[in-house]
Amino acid sequence: MKILSIPPDFDGWRTEARQALIAGWSPAQLDFQDTTVPHPLALLLAPDESPDGRPFSRPHVPKAFLDAAQTASVHRDSQRWNLLYRLLYRLQTDRNLLSVEVDSDVAALHRLSAQVARDLHKMHAFVRFRKVDEPDPADPAQTAEHYIAWYRPDHRILHLAAPFFAERFAPMRWTILTPDESVTHDPATHQLTFGPGLPREAAPREDELESLWRSYYGSIFNPARLNPWAMRSDMPVRYWQNLPEMALLPHLIQTAEARVASMVTRQAEKPTAAPFVPAEHKLPVLSAALPSCKGCDLFLHATQVVPGAGSGHARLMLVGEQPGDKEDLEGAPFVGPAGHLLHKALEELRIKSADVYLTNAVKHFKYVKRGSFRLHQNPRTSEINACRPWLLAEIDAVKPRVILCLGASASKSLLGGTFALMRERGQIKSTPYAERVLATIHPSAVLRARDQQGREQLYNFLRDDLALAYSTATGPEKSR
Ligand code: URA
Repeated sequence: MKILSIPPDFDGWRTEARQALIAGWSPAQLDFQDTTVPHPLALLLAPDESPDGRPFSRPHVPKAFLDAAQTASVHRDSQRWNLLYRLLYRLQTDRNLLSVEVDSDVAALHRLSAQVARDLHKMHAFVRFRKVDEPDPADPAQTAEHYIAWYRPDHRILHLAAPFFAERFAPMRWTILTPDESVTHDPATHQLTFGPGLPREAAPREDELESLWRSYYGSIFNPARLNPWAMRSDMPVRYWQNLPEMALLPHLIQTAEARVASMVTRQAEKPTAAPFVPAEHKLPVLSAALPSCKGCDLFLHATQVVPGAGSGHARLMLVGEQPGDKEDLEGAPFVGPAGHLLHKALEELRIKSADVYLTNAVKHFKYVKRGSFRLHQNPRTSEINACRPWLLAEIDAVKPRVILCLGASASKSLLGGTFALMRERGQIKSTPYAERVLATIHPSAVLRARDQQGREQLYNFLRDDLALAYSTATGPEKSR
């Protein structure tokens, strides 16, 4: 057995792994040992062996492997380097290996990278900076603000996590300390400098920023969501020590009941379909109940409510804005001009109708009358919110793997009011409503484009995003 000591550094492993592949070392002959983990056998001299595997003079490293391997490489599992080498070695002769989800190496890779992704997500949410005044590096006679946080991630994720903070806190000098390593951001150069790890005591404890943060948290705290069990599973107790808002919790919990009562009174004034949505989320049950909805005023003027249509087992759900003139008259979604364009794109992509469910964020047509015409009007945010319980019930009934929002209203409903369609279209997001949601151009925006060039560009956006949504929905299930 040949022993290779690898520091916690992906590039170091990559160089060694490449040389091993070229020389023909088989995975069974190699032991990549993590230098951060004590190995009882580390001092044994490797016997003088020669490679018994197949040499690969020009190793092939698929991008999908590289991405997942880079994420998995920061996991603390001491066997990760061996796992990555086994996969890399096998990929040389089996290029489709990564799509074999039941393969134990592939499954292990997905497991490690999913655990790292979860750890990253937690770190992004739970790091809290404390302000320290210190001599300004540019002019030591002046003081400058430095924001410092201490955090203990499960894995060695600081290099992966730091760019998020650099973008979010670009104008600030900040440092994140972890037991393994630390990183400092310089706002003047936007450089990140990594250094050694530090104990918790090295981070400052209290400052005025915390009272600011606490009052902010107090104002956004939703007492109706108070669920200590869920809080514990979302945010394990060991993270709580970092969070200044935790000092507020006893008071917020005590007053939660009274605040819920006042929220309920205020909520009662907002239009909502919630009382009309049956508890049983099955498509026929929902369709039967929809015509009785008076959750907002739109039912007053529309000819009829328009339910969703398509397969109840669809893997892809397309959510439009609201029925148009033709849909309102026929009682079916996407049967007018925008619908024809959408179906054309679906056909071009050979997307099977059995794999798609079509619906709208708002179920009634909203319009103004101009002579004999009924002109479409965008729904208000309050109308989109009022109708959301129907959409959520449909999502629960169909359980699509992917939801594609068509246009701004559907995006507002499922991705929130700050979602920027043109900037963020085509990006797969995870939301509280569904694990994978993305948004694209509404087909009517293509029809409204000013000239042929604009029409082609918007149509290509729509078609590309549809293709991505469909391939994600029908591709192999990712391990989570
Ligand atoms: N536009 C939509 O958003 N939905 C329809 O059903 C028709 C046009």
